[in-house]
Amino acid sequence: MAGKSDVPLAAIVAPLLVWFDRSARTLPWRTRPGVMRDPYRVWLSEIMLQQTTVPHAAPYFAAFTTRWPTVEALAAARDEDVMQAWAGLGYYARARNLLKCAREVAARGSFPETEAGLRLLPGIGPYTAGAIAALAFGERTPAVDGNAERVFSRLLALREDWAAAKKRIGLLARDLVPADRPGAFAEALMDLGATVCTPKKPNCAICPLAQLCTARAEGEPERYPLKPEKVVRPVRYGAAYVLRRTGHVWLVRRPPSGLLGAMLALPSSEWRDLSQAFEPPLDAAWQRVGQVRHVFTHFSLHLDVLAAETRDANLPEGFWVSDDDLSGLPTVFAKAAALAGLSARRKR
Ligand code: ADE
Repeated sequence: MAGKSDVPLAAIVAPLLVWFDRSARTLPWRTRPGVMRDPYRVWLSEIMLQQTTVPHAAPYFAAFTTRWPTVEALAAARDEDVMQAWAGLGYYARARNLLKCAREVAARGSFPETEAGLRLLPGIGPYTAGAIAALAFGERTPAVDGNAERVFSRLLALREDWAAAKKRIGLLARDLVPADRPGAFAEALMDLGATVCTPKKPNCAICPLAQLCTARAEGEPERYPLKPEKVVRPVRYGAAYVLRRTGHVWLVRRPPSGLLGAMLALPSSEWRDLSQAFEPPLDAAWQRVGQVRHVFTHFSLHLDVLAAETRDANLPEGFWVSDDDLSGLPTVFAKAAALAGLSARRKR
């Protein structure tokens, strides 16, 4: 059998909530117990957390909510400003969907208040819809993130294929959600996974569910979840050009669709499957300053970085930007700029 199904899972709810009331993390998008959550803040934080860690997301969340305190304010923002503020969070298609979603919500007047209604909005999948419905509207619906999945995989010592395990976890979790505290249940599982039932060296000694945990009883909880081998990503190669002129650097805007669509960028070659010499976009005394490597979802990029000073040259497309604020650059180009001695530190 693929994992135990005779574990009395209903027994986790009460100790988990007791633990959460004592040990919940204080996070910028949370409120004190009993205080209603603003769906805008829940939605924004969940979209940010889909792709990055809590410590990385926190300053972005603060910057967004200071600048755009409501969904209406975000809906009225200029696309470039939002894309720029998102730079460094990755997956820029999400930022475009974020704006689309904000505009739909502003146009209809408010967020839909059910999981089913939320699912119809751009960029909101099953997990995010469940999280917003449970956290902001108290719907009795599950929101099982990667941390919570790990907790369940250990509680039940799930041995089946990870896709099948995740499906089963989703179904089991749905039955467990307590009607009076669906949001607390969701965040309790997230916090337990993030702080106690960690991927490596889980701290079973302080875990409120230790007595109920099959993986712990087996003696090797970190074996779970049993995940498939990591994919080996193909490598692509390219060159990026840092053209400088008295305190300025030449940037371009990438085409609206595709990878890093509509984001600011350094001029760069095509990204190819073979390492080869690349033709610079103009004649200048190019110096190779090194190489940056960056991992995208479907490939790793090895980007040679070349730098040159110019007095008068312009490229056919793009514009000069002051080199003391390159905060709108996506991470791969920020790394390349840093290698050429420019700071892409964010001004926040
Ligand atoms: N990860 C995703 N959503 C979260 C939340 N609401 N709290 C903590 N971690 C999370």
